[in-house]
Amino acid sequence: MSDKRREKLLPVSSWPTREEAARARWFQPVTLGPVTAATRTWVPAMVPWRSNEAGEVTPQVIAWYERFARGRPGVLVVEATGIRDVPSGPLLRAGDDRFVEGLSRLVDAVKRASGGETKLFIQLIDFLAIKRRPQRSVFFSRFLQLTPALRALRPELDDAGLRAHLESLDDQTLATLLPPRELEALQFGLRERVTDTHLPHLAALPQVLPGLFAAAASRCAKAGFDGVELHSAHAYTLASFLSALNTRTDGYGGERANRVRLPLEVFAATRAAVPASFAVGCRFLADEIIAGGNRSDDAAFFGVQLARAGMDFLSLSRGGKFEDAKQPRVGASAYPYTGPSGHECMPTTKLEHPWGRNVSAAAQVKQALLAAGLRTPLVVCGGIATLAQAEAILENDEADVVASARQSLADPDWLLKLRLGQGASIRRCLFTNYCEGLDQSHQAVTCQLWDRAKGLPDDDTVPRTADRRRLLAPAWEL
Ligand SMILES: Cc1cc2nc3c(=O)[nH]c(=O)nc-3n(C[C@H](O)[C@H](O)[C@H](O)COP(=O)(O)O)c2cc1C
Ligand code: SF4
Repeated sequence: MSDKRREKLLPVSSWPTREEAARARWFQPVTLGPVTAATRTWVPAMVPWRSNEAGEVTPQVIAWYERFARGRPGVLVVEATGIRDVPSGPLLRAGDDRFVEGLSRLVDAVKRASGGETKLFIQLIDFLAIKRRPQRSVFFSRFLQLTPALRALRPELDDAGLRAHLESLDDQTLATLLPPRELEALQFGLRERVTDTHLPHLAALPQVLPGLFAAAASRCAKAGFDGVELHSAHAYTLASFLSALNTRTDGYGGERANRVRLPLEVFAATRAAVPASFAVGCRFLADEIIAGGNRSDDAAFFGVQLARAGMDFLSLSRGGKFEDAKQPRVGASAYPYTGPSGHECMPTTKLEHPWGRNVSAAAQVKQALLAAGLRTPLVVCGGIATLAQAEAILENDEADVVASARQSLADPDWLLKLRLGQGASIRRCLFTNYCEGLDQSHQAVTCQLWDRAKGLPDDDTVPRTADRRRLLAPAWEL
């Protein structure tokens, strides 16, 4: 689809004057527990792959967030940041005290660039191991566990002979012979699950995670952040505990009340480890989208439990799961944004109506909160890229804060442009997911639109990738 065609599909928008913007609900303050944000605008977590193998705050990480801060969102959430001090590729980390110094430089840069206006949160993440899809020959010669049932298929063969025999079979036959997890390991790569409680490190997650999240949050508080978002959405550990697919039998799986137990324990430990002035909230799914997964009524139940426990905000996303991800090529890992649930998480203009797809599920969570007498602010996200959309959501009491990820990536100044009555100059996101494709292959995330404009004053000085893409959005002078 051409960009011209995509432009035509964008929601129609008449941009507000400065006076209209000043009156808009989206630009009014909101209280998030101990923190008051100047506006109800929110840039949610986006991993830009600007850190290094040591998980440090690099000058590129600082430049990335500084750029968002100049647009003065009410809240800016730093990308998913690992709570463990283990090598995790170029993922930002908060798993040791040595990260505090770099994180505090990041806080200082954001505060300076936003004139002190933007509140800075950081998303904390834990995730389980996932292996790359193996070569068929390697899987059969090294990885496949030979169970008694497989040995019984050809008792006359020794192990090497049995492995060679199984490798010679077609996929259809293998599907009837291999245990489901072995078949998955062959076709997708081995992926740990929270239900693998026969493995001691996974059985111990409920004992280990509260301390790890709490310690990481405490470091972030020391670094000067205004709050943390406990990542309980998409394909990561806390989301897998919440999932309807979590059948653990140790009191942390099965019924909803058991599934929310670990996220509540993580919250309690985190709250106890940080100052009262520091906000603690979480991001979870309004709908998992996958077959057998949580729907919005589950999300409403979790929302009430999390709010009742005292969370300072609840942020809702949608989908983004491994269960329906596409098969990766050999040597690559499955990516949780490639299937239908991934398309719901980051809807593109290929869909008939990619706008505000999470709003009605969020409204259900909001209603449940209100019915329980809870006023915990709810953040909604997904395909929201105009003031009119945000205003309708706030006016209808479907959420309290409206987040925009890709529109803010396309034009980090767009919220300020709206407030100054300069909406006509906004660089509008085309919802192509070019940026998400870069994220998928762990390349520096950039927006395709940044490289369209020619003859900009910073053309010669802006840092670029090896393939000449701008690493920062074009400058905009007030
Ligand atoms: C490049 C990229 C990286 C992302 N990284 C994260 C992340 O670290 N944590 C998270 O919760 N969501 C992440 N997301 C999802 C966004 O926060 C957001 O939920 C999604 O893009 C839908 O919102 P939008 O339609 O406003 O873009 C990422 C999205 C993009 C495009
Ligand atoms: S690259 Fe990402 S931010 Fe840029 S237009 Fe495409 S979807 Fe929007």
